[in-house]
Amino acid sequence: MSLKEKIMIKLGLLTPFKYKAEDVVIRRNVSLQGRENMSIGTKTYIGENNVLYAGKAPLTIGNYVMTGPNVTIITGDHRIDLVGEYMRNVTNEMKMPENDRPVVIEDDVWIGAGAIILKGVTIGRGSVISAGAIVRKDVPPYTIFYSHENIRPRFTPRQIEEHEKMLKDKYPEDFN
Ligand SMILES: CC(C)(COP(=O)(O)OP(=O)(O)OC[C@H]1O[C@@H](n2cnc3c(N)ncnc32)[C@H](O)[C@@H]1OP(=O)(O)O)[C@@H](O)C(=O)NCCC(=O)NCCS
Repeated sequence: MSLKEKIMIKLGLLTPFKYKAEDVVIRRNVSLQGRENMSIGTKTYIGENNVLYAGKAPLTIGNYVMTGPNVTIITGDHRIDLVGEYMRNVTNEMKMPENDRPVVIEDDVWIGAGAIILKGVTIGRGSVISAGAIVRKDVPPYTIFYSHENIRPRFTPRQIEEHEKMLKDKYPEDFN
C-alpha cells in the first residue's frame, strides 16, 4: 500500500479492503466501490479501467487472478419491478435479497478485456473468460468461456491433475 493510501485511510478518505491484499497490482483508473465488502487475494493483477462494485453482496477475488483492461464486475442489480417509481429513486433499503448476490473469482483465473461479470457468479479455478464475454452464471474450473452456449475445457482431466500437482510442488506455501 502506498504512503498516500495509508494517509487517506487514516484520514477516513479511503476505506481499506475487508481483507489484506498483498502483492496486488492495481493498474490506473480502476474504480473500486464497496471496498469494505471486497477481498482481493495475493499476486492478483487488476487491469486498467476496471470497474469493481461490491454492493450489499461481497466480491471475492482469489490469488493469481488477472483481469484485462475494461473488465466490469458488479455484485448487484437495481430493482426493475416496481410500478410507479423511477428506478433511480429506488433506494438500497427497498432492494430485495435476490437483487444482490456474491461474486467469487477463484484462483488462477484470467478475465479477458472488456468482459462483464454479473451478480451471483462463481468463476472456477484456472478458467479463462474471453474478451468481451458477459457472464451471468457459474463457470466450471479449468474451462475457456466464450459464451454460455460455448464453454470449452482448457485442460483434460489428466492435465488438471498434473497441473495441480506441479503447482503444489512449485508453490507449497499456496496450499497450506
Ligand atoms: C479466450 C482466448 C484466450 C481464447 O483464445 P483461443 O482459444 O486461442 O481462441 P481462438 O482464436 O482459437 O478461438 C477459439 C474459438 O472461440 C471463438 N472466440 C475467440 N475469442 C472469442 C471471444 N472473445 N468471444 C467469443 N468467441 C470467441 C473463436 O471464434 C473460435 O471459434 P471457432 O472454434 O468456432 O472458430 C481469446 O479469444 C481471448 O479472448 N483473449 C483475451 C485477450 C485479452 O483480453 N487480452 C488482454 C490482456 S490481459
